[in-house]
Amino acid sequence: MQLLVLHGPNLNLLGTREPGLYGSATLEQINAALRERAMALGAGIDCFQSNHEGELVDRIQAARGQTAGILINAGAYTHTSIALRDALLAVAIPYVELHLSNTHARETFRHHSVLADRAVGVICGFGPASYGLALEGLVSHLRAQV
Ligand code: DQA
Repeated sequence: MQLLVLHGPNLNLLGTREPGLYGSATLEQINAALRERAMALGAGIDCFQSNHEGELVDRIQAARGQTAGILINAGAYTHTSIALRDALLAVAIPYVELHLSNTHARETFRHHSVLADRAVGVICGFGPASYGLALEGLVSHLRAQV
């Protein structure tokens, strides 16, 4: 089972970016932990980060036929990007939306996600552990489909 992990804008700065909110783990550490956990679950993962909306759209389009499921932390694009929503729906690959912080406990503009209503599920608020929880949820969802 091959999965794609997408990280949106500013997540390349994890480790030093507002550590009180997002924790002290770097993106490389998060990806490494996720890779190990995926392997233990019998899945492979490809991780991709971009600060650019179009690059994220291109990566989603390239996943068609290659990827069983997507984990996506779209960062601020979560709240604004119809282009990412359309790309995810166009490729029809099941996805789980996740966030390190509890977006519902923050500014009101973070309460709405343009991705959430078509996601398999949404995980937020557990810091870097959100990624592992989202991975478990996605794998068990995909296993239940076959
Ligand atoms: C985030 C939450 C978003 O609102 C914010 O723009 C981010 C990070 C999170 O993981 O908590 O960049 O997606």
